[in-house]
Amino acid sequence: MQISGNTMLITGGGSGIGLGLAREFQKLGNTVLIAGRSPAKLKEAELLGFKTYSVDMTKPTSREALAKSVLADYPGLNGVIHNAGIMKNENMLKGPTPEIRDETLATNLIGPMHLTELFLKHFLGKKNAFIMTVTSGLAFSPLAMTPTYSATKAAIHSYTQSLRYQLKDTGIQVLELVPPYVQTGLMGERQAKDPNAMPLEAFITEVMQILKNDTQVKEILVERVLPQRHSGDGGPEKHEQFFNQLNDRMLAARKAEW
Ligand SMILES: NC(=O)c1ccc[n+]([C@@H]2O[C@H](COP(=O)([O-])OP(=O)(O)OC[C@H]3O[C@@H](n4cnc5c(N)ncnc54)[C@H](OP(=O)(O)O)[C@@H]3O)[C@@H](O)[C@H]2O)c1
Repeated sequence: MQISGNTMLITGGGSGIGLGLAREFQKLGNTVLIAGRSPAKLKEAELLGFKTYSVDMTKPTSREALAKSVLADYPGLNGVIHNAGIMKNENMLKGPTPEIRDETLATNLIGPMHLTELFLKHFLGKKNAFIMTVTSGLAFSPLAMTPTYSATKAAIHSYTQSLRYQLKDTGIQVLELVPPYVQTGLMGERQAKDPNAMPLEAFITEVMQILKNDTQVKEILVERVLPQRHSGDGGPEKHEQFFNQLNDRMLAARKAEW
């Protein structure tokens, strides 16, 4: 993707990775629009000079209203970063968690798919259009404590591949950002300060460097996510070993919240 001169929408851009990207893209001369749920986060984003939109990505009518407003206000829109997401524990032995399951599927999976449909025709008429999904290292080796979350990220990885293939003869570039474990509030304050997570600033810096170095990049992979991204490369046995080690380590670290 081109690194400047874009008009892009970042969902969930009021905090964490989305806000980090928004700030860097803004510095590089892009027009960045932020959509999110929390009024307080949107207000803070406005103070930083971003145009903001209120959206609840779990609701089809809200996604439609967002797309309509953004396209009316910014006909030059040429990119979207599907960043909004939630990640919650689901302990199946404690009983079913249908609310978490449905909210996670709607936010992380159906939301980006629907928004893509809503923007596709518009992007087909643009030069240098792009669609960036945000998956996770957990798309390639799931965290068993967050089964629906991990499944949505694997599904978005698959969807991104199909989308890229279908759009290969158009002007729309399809990118996938694959973060490792990063210090944000995704799972609460503990994650934001967890020394085992990658510092947010270092993550954003590395991502921007990758984007600058390779305008044709498909998967945006920082060093730290490579072992997870390639955990399947050595065959099923090695993959299972990686999966078990990851999950044993995470379960031990998070016993209190489980
Ligand atoms: N941090 C990590 O370790 C990590 C690793 C891999 C992938 N990721 C992915 O990176 C993306 C960003 O997460 P983050 O780590 O930056 O955490 P974050 O700071 O919690 O960001 C998530 C954003 O999504 C928004 N959001 C959630 N539900 C929404 C809804 N229904 N409608 C609209 N906006 C909604 C949140 O805004 P509200 O609070 O206003 O709802 C929030 O600003 C997510 O897709 C996540 O899965 C993160």
